[in-house]
Amino acid sequence: MPTAWSQTSPSRVVHADNLEILPGLPAESFTLIYLDPPFNTGRKQNRQSTTSVRSSMAADSGALGAHAAGTITGFKGQRYERIKGDLLGYDDQFEDYWAFLEPRLIEAWRLLADDGTLYLHLDYREAHYAKVLLDALFGRDCFLNELIWAYDYGAKSKNRWPTKHDTILVYVKNPAAYYFDSTTVDREPYMAPGLVTPEKVAKGKLPTDVWWHTIVSPTGKEKTGYPTQKPVGILRRMIQASSREGDWVLDFFAGSGTTGAVAAALGRRFLLVDRNPESIKVMRARFAALPEVDFIETDIDAVAHAEAAADGDAADGNAAGGDGTHAAAAIA
Ligand SMILES: C[S@@+](CC[C@H](N)C(=O)[O-])C[C@H]1O[C@@H](n2cnc3c(N)ncnc32)[C@H](O)[C@@H]1O
Repeated sequence: MPTAWSQTSPSRVVHADNLEILPGLPAESFTLIYLDPPFNTGRKQNRQSTTSVRSSMAADSGALGAHAAGTITGFKGQRYERIKGDLLGYDDQFEDYWAFLEPRLIEAWRLLADDGTLYLHLDYREAHYAKVLLDALFGRDCFLNELIWAYDYGAKSKNRWPTKHDTILVYVKNPAAYYFDSTTVDREPYMAPGLVTPEKVAKGKLPTDVWWHTIVSPTGKEKTGYPTQKPVGILRRMIQASSREGDWVLDFFAGSGTTGAVAAALGRRFLLVDRNPESIKVMRARFAALPEVDFIETDIDAVAHAEAAADGDAADGNAAGGDGTHAAAAIA
């Protein structure tokens, strides 16, 4: 599989299905990975074969650090499989969603540096299932935080508590070596400034694990027009705390490119992937003032075609999927 990126690349946006790109990226390359996958809408997700993920993990496992190699050994262990079987049996729609997410999360874990951190942005319907599965998959000792992003905007239900928060699960690759520097994080106003000294009021307080932050205003200057755009303010906190200047940041559900915009503003480098042409269009406009950022187009139609052909081969009993052009077709 051709690689779409290496550590000597410029900051980059790749137009592709992420699962076509991820197995070709070198292991342990990213200090921070932020993922904001499409929420489980109840619709059937586009399932992908995990064959390439598993084989690439096997190929790369020798290159992983001792801790990571230990974690990989735990992947697909009996415990995880048992928990997954029990949990997914409750909810067909989540089962389908997890079939989409799982191979991508395993790739994210492989790509995280030993001192790296994964931020997984979910909504309240998915977060609890995902937490249990990720504890079993990555190791409960790697779970760092559950962040609640609370906002207060839009219509409010009258027959239950209006749901106005998202959940961000935070996992570190190595609990003994992860990077975290809260001194660099934007501070926020005290809720009861009368109870602290004027010096403290002037400095502001460190955010906790509950982040009150407005959504991207439909009329504000941050708005790109991309419907699921996340605010710069919440990405800033993550990137400030969990990466250093010059580090690589990855977002392979990039959308409007908020992760890249914040990474660049904070002096980090970034790799963004999205399969939606509209997302790429929005990012081209958003990064127009950053000439160092390059864009790679892949032939998504060719990939879909190759996948359909491979499915046909598999149905004919030829699961190997032909001559290997499947992945090579991805890079234009
Ligand atoms: C919730 S949005 C991300 C929004 C983003 N955080 C922002 O601030 O704009 C999810 C994105 O994932 C993309 N996506 C979904 N499935 C994908 C896949 N298999 N490969 C690449 N991108 C995908 C969608 O096109 C969409 O842009």
